[in-house]
Amino acid sequence: MNERSVYRMVGRVENTEGIAGRVARISVSAIKQMPVLASKVPGCISLGQGIPSFATPSFITEGVIEALRSEDWIGKYSLQPGLPQLKEAVAKRLGETKGIVVDPETELFISCGAMEALAAGLATVIERGDEVLLPSPTYSSHIEQILFAEGIPVFVPLVEEEGWRLDVPGFKKAMTPKTKAILICHPMNPTGALFSPEDLRALAEIAVERNLFVIADEAYDFLVYDGLSHFSLTSISELKKNLIACYSFSKAYCMTGWRVGYMYASGRLIEQVLKVHDAFAICAPTISQYAALTALKKTNGRDGEGDRFMRRLVEALDARRNIICEHLDRLTDLFAYQKPEGAYYVFPRILMHGVGSVDLALKLLYDAKVISVPGNGFGPTGEGHIRFSFGATEKEIHEAFERIELWAKRQAFPKSRRPLKMD
Ligand SMILES: Cc1ncc(COP(=O)(O)O)c(C=O)c1O
Repeated sequence: MNERSVYRMVGRVENTEGIAGRVARISVSAIKQMPVLASKVPGCISLGQGIPSFATPSFITEGVIEALRSEDWIGKYSLQPGLPQLKEAVAKRLGETKGIVVDPETELFISCGAMEALAAGLATVIERGDEVLLPSPTYSSHIEQILFAEGIPVFVPLVEEEGWRLDVPGFKKAMTPKTKAILICHPMNPTGALFSPEDLRALAEIAVERNLFVIADEAYDFLVYDGLSHFSLTSISELKKNLIACYSFSKAYCMTGWRVGYMYASGRLIEQVLKVHDAFAICAPTISQYAALTALKKTNGRDGEGDRFMRRLVEALDARRNIICEHLDRLTDLFAYQKPEGAYYVFPRILMHGVGSVDLALKLLYDAKVISVPGNGFGPTGEGHIRFSFGATEKEIHEAFERIELWAKRQAFPKSRRPLKMD
């Protein structure tokens, strides 16, 4: 059974008799286990799962209501690769944001969130025993998806002291004849790091040289702070043949529950991935595809309602990022952290002696009534850390940290490690 399972730590025993090994060896990620445990603890504040506090904007919901009235086919399956008009809108959007030319007919498919695109992409190219390199820490579901595809996750630690920088020589060193792919989440969940274009280019060069697939999770591509910009792996043309890039409507338009996203890849790969999409989902929910289409119709890269919404969202999350960092700055006996530059997570190192990440997450849940995610779910380098999301409201973040401070005052933790220097 999965060593990273929080359920296991609270004593839940799984009966995996007769269950296929590829399922028995994975688990529901800690990100989703924590809210399930928390649902039995009244009065919790969530800094756990990455759900922005904002509702799906009304220009989208109104568009869907209109579509429900006018589109007879909205309650039926769409074409299997997705609504053609949505694929066209996605191709246009990728052109505007990434400067690439995308054939909507052959190089895209609409998925049930980035999650399904990632899982289908991995299932398409990974065979039993293939090694997949990924940074550690990394988004926990990537690990389960690789294991489910019967691949072997090979972790390459990020350089925490340098803002969770990519260690490109480390990737090179970790490669073996069995290496089949590299999976990169950027901007990063759980660290909030942005990788430099130089490092990403160097990694892409190695991948091209060795004919490795690169799976890019760019679910947070719109969400960067401090005037920085996101460098997309799609802009490296030499990589195109080997690239599987996955995107989401969940975060940019606060549509986590609609379950819609997409994949961009070469026509050859999309044709193969569509077999997996058909076997698992048939098509993405048609109603959600109309929601996504409405979102893109109102987004033109300048002054559309969608653009304005995203700008307000980034501003609000930036303010929340500063609030959470100010609180962490007051808790230097408990945590040391690198300020996130993208996404809405911070991944502090735990400084309390002898306290592991699951231990701390459970204590915060049951004693302080604050939901967090233990770092061990994000790969080996994640142990000794905890993930807080700042998708919650400012008021919730303040209150959560008041609870954490009060809780910490009741403990007597000797300090174990020197805080890392902040750059
Ligand atoms: C890095 C990353 N990729 C993918 C997803 C899932 O995206 P979607 O809701 O589009 O499936 C998440 C959700 O939190 C995420 O953090």
